[in-house]
Amino acid sequence: MMRLFVALALPEQIAESLLFLQGGVPGARWSQREQLHLTLRFIGEVDGRDAAAIDDALAAIRAPRFTLELRGVGEFGGKNPRALWVGVREDAPVLHLQRKIESALQRVGLAAEERKFAPHVTLARLRASPRDRVITFLATHALYASPPFEVNNFILYSSQTTPNGSLYRPERAYALE
Ligand code: 2AM
Repeated sequence: MMRLFVALALPEQIAESLLFLQGGVPGARWSQREQLHLTLRFIGEVDGRDAAAIDDALAAIRAPRFTLELRGVGEFGGKNPRALWVGVREDAPVLHLQRKIESALQRVGLAAEERKFAPHVTLARLRASPRDRVITFLATHALYASPPFEVNNFILYSSQTTPNGSLYRPERAYALE
């Protein structure tokens, strides 16, 4: 069995700019450089046969390459914030790709994703972080904006839990047109 998800990788320079945002929130477990990505579809545990079908389905997707800009910061969890993230400036092209991936995966038998897709790059997972510090973090970095970058492919990652956190390994990249 392997735990899989589909995501966009970030160019080195963009990922590094995100590392500079990290800090100032007690209880935050900050994403390491290698953990930064933009999830398009979480798949979960599958066996080898399903993984092969998923790979074939993803390889058959035809979608245009696009330009992406990361912008702004946010949190999930509201009163009990559990994650900090960076958002995207314009979500139409990434939504288009995400929909194609979603329907390709449903065609090979995966259950529909029920959560509404909200494109984001997780900066930190939070545990008992004081709300005022989270609010200060959000205010401090509200104007964060990355330079635009080209998205030429999307990636199937495997995820392994280790004592040092999750290890995400790119298994296969699929080119955009
Ligand atoms: P997150 O960054 O918002 O937590 C690998 O776990 C990736 O898949 C993470 O980026 C995570 O998103 C995303 N993901 C989406 N749904 C998930 C789920 N039910 N369990 C674990 N990860 C999930």
